Amino acid sequence: MIMIRARMHDCISCAILLAGIAALLLLQGVPVRSGDAAFPKAMDNVTVRQGDSAMLRCIVDSRVTRVAWLNRTTILYAGNDKWSIDNRVVLLSNTRTQYSIEIQNVDLYDEGPYTCSVQTDNHPKTSRVHLIVQVPPKIIEISSNIAVNEGSNISLKCIAVGRPEPTVNWRHLSPKAEGFASEEEYLEIEGITREQSGQYECSAANDVAAPDVQKVKVTVNYPPYISDAKSTGATLGQKGILQCDASAVPSADFYWYKEDKRLMDGNKGLSMETKDTFSRLTFFNVSEQDYGNYTCVAINMLGQTNASIILYEETTAALTPLKGPGAVHDGNKASEKAGCVWLQLLPLLLLHLHLKF
Ligand SMILES: *[C@@H]1O[C@H](CO)[C@@H](O)[C@H](O)[C@H]1NC(C)=O
Ligand SMILES: *[C@@H]1O[C@H](CO)[C@@H](O)[C@H](O)[C@H]1NC(C)=O
Ligand SMILES: *[C@@H]1O[C@H](CO)[C@@H](O)[C@H](O)[C@H]1NC(C)=O
Ligand SMILES: *[C@@H]1O[C@H](CO)[C@@H](O)[C@H](O)[C@H]1NC(C)=O
Ligand SMILES: *[C@@H]1O[C@H](CO)[C@@H](O)[C@H](O)[C@H]1NC(C)=O
Ligand SMILES: *[C@@H]1O[C@H](CO)[C@@H](O)[C@H](O)[C@H]1NC(C)=O
Repeated sequence: MIMIRARMHDCISCAILLAGIAALLLLQGVPVRSGDAAFPKAMDNVTVRQGDSAMLRCIVDSRVTRVAWLNRTTILYAGNDKWSIDNRVVLLSNTRTQYSIEIQNVDLYDEGPYTCSVQTDNHPKTSRVHLIVQVPPKIIEISSNIAVNEGSNISLKCIAVGRPEPTVNWRHLSPKAEGFASEEEYLEIEGITREQSGQYECSAANDVAAPDVQKVKVTVNYPPYISDAKSTGATLGQKGILQCDASAVPSADFYWYKEDKRLMDGNKGLSMETKDTFSRLTFFNVSEQDYGNYTCVAINMLGQTNASIILYEETTAALTPLKGPGAVHDGNKASEKAGCVWLQLLPLLLLHLHLKF
């Protein structure tokens, strides 16, 4: 009531040109009578992306004597006169049939009701349109890549903005695709396992534009685990290889021992090749002293483990049983087999002797 009175007072002191428009202001919000429902005709609600231009159009006819566009209760344009001091607001057309303005570089604060006011035969009428501002989804804050020890609790954060408010989703991009997903800004994992390491993808989506997607790498540290360390046969005077496979994060350092003696790369007749997941000892020319019990030790910051591997003697015959010409018939095969069994036992016997003395 007070507001209206104050406005009325303002209006009385207004220039004559403005009097009509001021009257429209007073009537703003009064429902358009049903007979006039289609007139003045403003468009449906206008939806634009932040940064784009919005056109506000009002359909008029020749009976219309005064026109204005208002932002809430503020006049933006009255006829050809610009009232707004905002240089993003421009007049597009003021003809017998339409009266339209444009708001350039629309921002969130422009959202709201806009009113087209017209005066026809001394009757003021209004029509309202809502400007709806959309903002594509954007992730504004996301956890950095992390490395944690197995068993830790972690919490990943993904904060996104947009309009409408985007929905935020977490997904574990693992080759096993366990279908791990969370529909929240925070992804909590209790007692993380090594299988849960890898890339986590946060996706923020609304229907304005393509989702914003970002990734976080989670590294789960765990102590070495020797997955394979097989005893191996080698023939005297030939090449011999011992291999030790271990998984660990961070990757393990490998050490080799024979009894108490640490072996080094470059030891005579020996080479040591170590990669992230394995270490390999190569004997260029296996001698008697090379046979025996080796220990592979894998160490990282979380712990260590070891495995024993035997390099045992193998005879050439066991690998490539001699075959005379025409010796390919059943009887011979059976005897070959028997020979093989005996030859396979031999290295163990030899080793036994070797270790004893
Ligand atoms: C519309 O009004 C709002 C609220 O007063 C203001 O923040 C915004 O800048 C105005 N927009 C235009 C295009 O006049
Ligand atoms: C226009 O937007 C307003 C506010 O969001 C809403 O109340 C109204 O129903 C909308 N009208 C149309 C025709 O969509
Ligand atoms: C992880 O969370 C659980 C449950 O909240 C808690 O009992 C446990 O102590 C936490 N572990 C660590 C390492 O913080
Ligand atoms: C392997 O070592 C033996 C004994 O030292 C030697 O006789 C032989 O020639 C060596 N073989 C090769 C391929 O180097
Ligand atoms: C090899 O050595 C380890 C300890 O150094 C021992 O536990 C293991 O029994 C030995 N293997 C054989 C076949 O003697
Ligand atoms: C191998 O592991 C056992 C048990 O953890 C430990 O007692 C031994 O000292 C280790 N050997 C080496 C060479 O590290």
